[in-house]
Amino acid sequence: MFSRQVAEELRSFETPFYLYDISLLRQTLESAVSVAKKYGYVLHYAIKANYDPRILSVVRDYGLGVDCASGNEIRCALEAGFEPSGIVYAGVGKRDKEIRYAIERQIFAINCESLQELDLINSIAASLDKVQPIGLRINPDIDPKTNKCIDTGQADSKFGIPYEELVSSLDHVRSLKNVKITGMHLHIGSQIRELHVFEYLCEKVNSILAHLGSHGLDFEFIDVGGGLGVNYDFPENEPVPNFASVFAIINSHLKAGGRPVHFEFGRAIVAQCGELITSVLFNKTTATGRKLVIVDASMTELLRPALYGAYHNIENITSASDVKERYSVVGTACESTDVFDESVSLPKTSRGDLLSIKSSGAYGMSMASRYNLHDLPAAVYSDDIVR
Ligand code: LLP
Repeated sequence: MFSRQVAEELRSFETPFYLYDISLLRQTLESAVSVAKKYGYVLHYAIKANYDPRILSVVRDYGLGVDCASGNEIRCALEAGFEPSGIVYAGVGKRDKEIRYAIERQIFAINCESLQELDLINSIAASLDKVQPIGLRINPDIDPKTNKCIDTGQADSKFGIPYEELVSSLDHVRSLKNVKITGMHLHIGSQIRELHVFEYLCEKVNSILAHLGSHGLDFEFIDVGGGLGVNYDFPENEPVPNFASVFAIINSHLKAGGRPVHFEFGRAIVAQCGELITSVLFNKTTATGRKLVIVDASMTELLRPALYGAYHNIENITSASDVKERYSVVGTACESTDVFDESVSLPKTSRGDLLSIKSSGAYGMSMASRYNLHDLPAAVYSDDIVR
């Protein structure tokens, strides 16, 4: 909730822009780090969620490592001052040059997603005269009970190595001289709100560990990925996600046998600290009677609603009207799916009002595009304005 004064102050910035609440980011990291410490868990930040340099410097201050999905993400993490020894790199289609770069930079582990990829990493590492630490990303065949667009752990998914295939190829895996299997990696999906899913994940990991152990394949660490969801419906009720619950579940269900357990959270770290501030350009009523509010942001700044049908809470932060109306809030792009909310109740909204599209700190700016040759949105930080 913005004070009237702050909302007016935001008018001095050109819209649309992302507004980041750095003190909420710190609170979130404080919570994640303090509970993780209790169990000795190792945290990586999934940098794909947001690359903003100021956010990265705060995340780094809290001692997290980084989970990367490309060579350029590794470069971005290194340039932001993260240590190579805290970087993991997953991705279903790593390019040769990205693999070479990751090996040369001596990152903590490449999380490998197929046996063909493992052979390639082995041969590139051999050409560099290196032995590359590997996390084997195993597909555990679990339904993470989330939007199917961001579900990555079911048997038919493109992600991870099918378990049976791994078991039948163990001799080959062991024969590779320039890779060292150090970790087991899993990531079953994103925006997971039904936390019991993590119990199933632990049960799967326990049985895979036991079974592979009996075949002589052991792991030094277990990386259970990210996925902890946030409250998009009522962000004010849950500004800091429930790290304590997910860690408690993992602690009581995972038989890690003393191995370090790693996590890779993106959304849970940054979603709630960001909002997209946009101005109302026009009101229009369709021939069918639908009241549109046309704002100056679009799917080019925040793709999630158009791509996944994702919900983001919207607030009019400048209207003083007591009259509520129901609107469709739509963007400027030449796409019919460019709709932020089909039907939202807002105080009477008109040209010049500022709207806040909440919980957009994760996968907002990082997925922005220049479609229609829109400019990329700027970032404004709470530290720089009075709140
Ligand atoms: N680890 C791996 C291997 C991943 O692929 C991801 C996310 C994460 C960790 C972090 O997951 P998180 O903690 O943020 O759930 N653009 C979509 C989300 C795609 C997530 C991709 N992978 C969205 O806007 O909802």
